[in-house]
Amino acid sequence: MKNSVRIFPNSGELAATLAEEIVRRITHSANSERNYSIALSGGSTPELLYSILGDEYSDAVPWDFIRIFWGDERCVPPDSTESNFGMAKRLLLDKIDIPESNIHRMMGEEDPLKEAIRYSAEISSLLPLRDGLPVFDLQIMGIGEDGHTASVFPGFLDLFSSSEVCAVTVHPGSGQRRITLTGSVINNSEAVVFLVEGKGKAETVARIIRNDAESAGYPASFVRPVYGSLDWFLDEDAAALL
Ligand code: 6PG
Repeated sequence: MKNSVRIFPNSGELAATLAEEIVRRITHSANSERNYSIALSGGSTPELLYSILGDEYSDAVPWDFIRIFWGDERCVPPDSTESNFGMAKRLLLDKIDIPESNIHRMMGEEDPLKEAIRYSAEISSLLPLRDGLPVFDLQIMGIGEDGHTASVFPGFLDLFSSSEVCAVTVHPGSGQRRITLTGSVINNSEAVVFLVEGKGKAETVARIIRNDAESAGYPASFVRPVYGSLDWFLDEDAAALL
């Protein structure tokens, strides 16, 4: 696993540089005979990144070459303010010329267990398989202060050895049901990028990157791509304790 940590003075430079890097990776792969697959993160941190991609790169990327997926989704309708799909649609998808058929959302409005099965089959039918699991070209991921990533929360570490593609989990604080890629699929990706900002995450980030004993319960500390790369894109606040 190739690993890097890049630190930026503020969230604007962080998001702008990551947008540029994502575009570089897409255009570098654009000559391959298959689509480039990206699994988007939810939450608030990636909002600026998606806005920049939509506002500044709508004409600079062969979006019809891209397949968009999600790393996790809240079990809410797509028009809910809680929806990860709804956020990406508003900030990115509505601004770019991407075929509807290339947008693969987790249907948060459906029965979670049935949707996890359906989405697993959809991903597995569209992406190359390695070790029996689908391979994403890029996972864009966030981290919670409790060390969760996607919707793999503390206590669900078995999802990093699961043979499943998706799982249904529950947010420990709100009780909200979630659908998430398993840790096994995340670690099967060609590239994972953690996008993290803010003082509130500094201790969690430092413990994971330093591989401290305290990070042993953090799902994000188990994100170790077997074949791919892991890059951290941090602002100075999130990197303050490194
Ligand atoms: C979600 C995300 C989740 C998120 C972290 C950080 O559905 O909420 O996938 O893993 O990345 O909770 O969220 P913030 O960016 O809002 O801090």
